[in-house]
Amino acid sequence: MSKKESFGSKFGIIAAAAGSAIGLGNIYRFPCEAGANGGGAFFIVYLGIVLLMGLPLMVSEFVIGRRSGKNPVGAFKALAPASKSWSGIGYMGVFCSFLILAFYCTVAGWTIDSLGKSIINYYHGLDKDTILADFNGLMNETWQPILSEGIFIFITAFVIIKGVKQGIEKYSKILMPVLFGILIVLAIKSLTLPKAAEGIGFFLKPDFSKITGKVLINALGQAFFSLSLGMGVLITYGSYIAKNDNLTSTAFAVCVSDTLIAILAGIVIFPAAFTFGIQPEAGNELAFVTLPMLFDKMAGGYFFCLIFFLLLTIAALTSSISLLEAPVLFLTEELHLSRKKATIYSAIATFVLCVISSESLHDGTPLKIFGFSVFSALDMISSNFLMTIGGLLTILFIGWKMKKSDFMDEYTNGGTISMGLRKIMYFIIRFIAPVAITIILITQFMK
Ligand code: PHE
Repeated sequence: MSKKESFGSKFGIIAAAAGSAIGLGNIYRFPCEAGANGGGAFFIVYLGIVLLMGLPLMVSEFVIGRRSGKNPVGAFKALAPASKSWSGIGYMGVFCSFLILAFYCTVAGWTIDSLGKSIINYYHGLDKDTILADFNGLMNETWQPILSEGIFIFITAFVIIKGVKQGIEKYSKILMPVLFGILIVLAIKSLTLPKAAEGIGFFLKPDFSKITGKVLINALGQAFFSLSLGMGVLITYGSYIAKNDNLTSTAFAVCVSDTLIAILAGIVIFPAAFTFGIQPEAGNELAFVTLPMLFDKMAGGYFFCLIFFLLLTIAALTSSISLLEAPVLFLTEELHLSRKKATIYSAIATFVLCVISSESLHDGTPLKIFGFSVFSALDMISSNFLMTIGGLLTILFIGWKMKKSDFMDEYTNGGTISMGLRKIMYFIIRFIAPVAITIILITQFMK
């Protein structure tokens, strides 16, 4: 068997992992969650969750991936050979990444569609009602979404087939700086709008009265989703991280950039919404209806609309690449398929589920699970349950199943980096994070 591929540089590792983390979840889900759930207060809670649960879980996933050098299923098998049931976390993760990918590609399909429309200046002169009717029309279309989803999944598969260094790493290293540059340009534009201060105030002013149990669970779900945690994607990427890389600094860099991008996205969205007198509403409508209309009213609107949808497409792409890589590595290592075959099979399966997901948005559709459209059900099952439970089990595995000496050995690169932090991190992984995640999970069921 050929030697396993790995990332070639520190920047490559961070670009790929941050590429996974930074996605649609940051650009349009985070600002809306924050705006609706107490602004700055939500942000403080969110930061606490990222530090106390997100960062330790990310480190845990990297450790599991790098120690074993394997896909999520193989990793638990290798690290706990005597107790097979732990590999269930891996199976659950691979399954979850497949579910997420399906509804993620549905949204990415809308993004591709809007990118196409902004290229031909389609939005010019249209009012909000027309764009909204158009967007709702798209939900009821059959072929148009299928085409854009197909294009998106094809591009994702193309990068994956190229491999880890020549595919994932190479494209992340190009796309992530481009994404950051676009966001900065958009943020500067937004900050020069007349009601910028009001918009930023709404986004960041803390209102602690809004912090309830429900908000906590939303913040946890948002943090896990945004950081790509709890479902094996970062175990997969961890298996490509070089043995001499400092896992803490990598995980920290990913958490910081992910949070920074989420804030920047809010800085782009809220000033624009306030300047044009619009209450920031639900994610979908804001990104695909309101913003194109707002851009059209600004000087240079064609350009800003175009780069906004380019930004969304890039963000979605680097995340979907990581979501597809998890099942692909599983298939190559556990079922011994070639990378090409594994990618093609996974891409086809994703495409089929994605089409079912997007068709389930038609009015009067029979495609429902427990009364929800397949699209919403996939989102709920994966983000509200599988990811949080997967995250909890992963952290319990590190804290209570894996030998402390093995964890420390991997975490400190065989003792070559001495970190005062390592004891605190281990304590958080063992006690604080699992208790906190459990409490938040329980509050969810108390409503
Ligand atoms: N983190 C990505 C986002 O914020 C989504 C994602 C979730 C990617 C889970 C990989 C794994 O959009």
